[in-house]
Order: sequence, then C-alpha cells, then structure tokens
Amino acid sequence: MAWQICLFFLLMSTCPDVITGSTFEHIKDSIMKLENDFNTSQSDVADDGSIFTHRFRNGLWTEANEKKILLAQMISMYSNMLKYATKTQTSDHLRDLIEALEEYKTQFSESLKKANDLIEVANLPMNDLKIQRKAVAEMYRVLLEVNAEEIKRLRRSRRQNPRSQKRLLPNLRG
Ligand SMILES: *[C@@H]1O[C@H](CO)[C@@H](O)[C@H](O)[C@H]1NC(C)=O
Repeated sequence: MAWQICLFFLLMSTCPDVITGSTFEHIKDSIMKLENDFNTSQSDVADDGSIFTHRFRNGLWTEANEKKILLAQMISMYSNMLKYATKTQTSDHLRDLIEALEEYKTQFSESLKKANDLIEVANLPMNDLKIQRKAVAEMYRVLLEVNAEEIKRLRRSRRQNPRSQKRLLPNLRG
C-alpha cells in the first residue's frame, strides 16, 4: 500500500518524507543499540539528574524558535560525542546516528548559528583590557537595542492591559 502512495507522489515529482517516515523513525533502533553500548540501564547513569531533558520541563522554552536554538545545540553536542566515539568503535548504528544528526544539523542550521552566537558572547574574555575597551565602545549601541526591546514590551503590556491607562480617568459612572 505504502509503495503505491509513494509511486503516486513520485509521479507528482517527489515522494515526501511523510510517506517514507521521519528521520527519527529510521534511527529509533540505532538509539536503543547505542543505549546498550553505553550500559545506560545501570543505575549510576541517573546520579545527579539529567543533563539535557530537565530543560524541556523548566517552562523557559515555550517559544518555538527559542526551543529550536536549544535543540540545535543539543544536536551539535550529540554529533560531537558520536564523532569522537568513532575513534574507538565503529558500527552500523553509530554511522546511522551520525548521518541522522548531520541531517538534523542541516535542518537546524539557522538555530545552530544563533546558539553559536550565544556561546561566543558567553565566552568573551571580559577581564581582557582590549575586550573591555571594545565593550565600552559598543555599550551605547547595545543598550539602544535593549531600549528598543523595552519599548516594545511596554507597548505590548499597554495594549494587553488598557485599564492601566483608564485608571487615571475620573469615574463618570457615579
Ligand atoms: C558496558 O558493559 C560492558 C560489560 O560489562 C563493558 O565491557 C563495557 O565497557 C561497558 N561500556 C561502557 C561504555 O561503560
């Protein structure tokens, strides 16, 4: 049945991913095999909590574009880890996962650039005098951007809560 639908779409020039299954559907088994390689069912893995997944529940990443930045960075870290792992071991599932992560990195490339921006900013050596002088030289321009965001926020809250302005008017209802 699936191939007939696929053929139908092929005739219409492409066979979309919805029919062939998402990347994740292809790599589920490989993830299980990797879990086995790394003995993740042993209890010590859970010590000190998670490193990634608690961030999905902290309520900070509700905005889709922001969440993509977080996910892009996690994808990148997994990609680094698995590429490093290939130095000591090779297997079909490892290769599959690396390939899938490369695909995700392409899909998330813009978010990955945003994540890199954050990391570069976070890693600036602010105790270096040359960097400090650059920072001060750019401070007016940076805080001007901050101000623009603040004004947007004020306008938004005024729109959402018009009573805060009306409160100043005398009560005419008697
Ligand atoms: C997983 O357990 C096996 C068997 O005890 C061991 O040989 C292997 O080194 C372990 N792998 C890791 C990544 O700890």
